[in-house]
Amino acid sequence: MAASGEPRKPWQEEVAAAVVVVGSCMTDLVSLTSRLPKTGETIHGHKFFVGFGGKGANQCVQAARLGAKASIVCKVGKDSFGNDYIENLKQNHISTEFTYQTGDAATGTASIIVNSEVKTLFNPAPAIADLDPRFYTLSSVFCCNESEAEILTGLAVNNPTEAGKAASALLERGCQVVVITLGASGCVALSQEEPVPKHIPTEAVKAVDTTGAGDSFVGALAFYLAYYPNLPLEEMLKRSNFIAAVSVQATGTQSSYPYKKDLPLALF
Ligand SMILES: Nc1ncnc2c1ncn2[C@@H]1O[C@H](COP(=O)(O)OP(=O)(O)OP(=O)(O)O)[C@@H](O)[C@H]1O
Ligand SMILES: *[C@@H]1O[C@H](CO)[C@@H](O)[C@H](O)[C@H]1NC(C)=O
Repeated sequence: MAASGEPRKPWQEEVAAAVVVVGSCMTDLVSLTSRLPKTGETIHGHKFFVGFGGKGANQCVQAARLGAKASIVCKVGKDSFGNDYIENLKQNHISTEFTYQTGDAATGTASIIVNSEVKTLFNPAPAIADLDPRFYTLSSVFCCNESEAEILTGLAVNNPTEAGKAASALLERGCQVVVITLGASGCVALSQEEPVPKHIPTEAVKAVDTTGAGDSFVGALAFYLAYYPNLPLEEMLKRSNFIAAVSVQATGTQSSYPYKKDLPLALF
């Protein structure tokens, strides 16, 4: 992972990341108010907090908290939010070797996760209808939610059966595996080897805040692809459902993501 072409010195430990995320790091500025202000109006809020977000970083944090050696390729600003974000990545034991700081604005429109076997998990968020066809052919796992699947296929996705049809349409575009997440209904998946859509339901839980559930799911799936590559796909998805369900039972995005130590041993 050395950035320069210099030969590595014996004391420089070679630690290749198993989960590499290319995606956004965003600082969430969250104001809690009783209603939205009208244009130009100033209203009172009752709470304010700053949180760490960005789909790429969320997924990377979830994978790292499960025990993955993770690295993020991203850019943050040369400002206090950027400095704080880099500190947050370090606290989550994420490599910042390829995290850059710039004065220019950075825009994240998609996140790509690559593991050491060059498997690529692609999360097309936010989705655009005319996605470059290479994103399908280069994806080992293409994972999106219901509304993204609708935008990408033009088909309605309101239940597992419809999700299966949309997933089939996406598979035909050349992905190896397609996963569509369905909120409290779990997910639907199919692959070139098993092209019949399979619904993987999840346990009913009392959801407190579903923000970031999709990124928790994608981060967990990246963890399993990297560390348990021989696990059957269905089992990886069951476990990712479970981890994302834990994240919806607490408030916040990264603050709700569980650590390995807080999860059942059977998941590892
Ligand atoms: N209410 C819930 N109960 C149990 N599991 C849930 C619930 N909501 C979400 N999940 C889990 O999280 C996964 C992702 O949820 P969802 O399909 O809503 O993603 P998303 O729309 O991208 O999420 P978000 O945009 O809120 O981050 C689901 O596949 C499921 O495993
Ligand atoms: C799917 O994810 C997008 C972000 O790309 C989000 O805006 C949208 O609300 C999500 N859809 C559902 C059904 O949760």
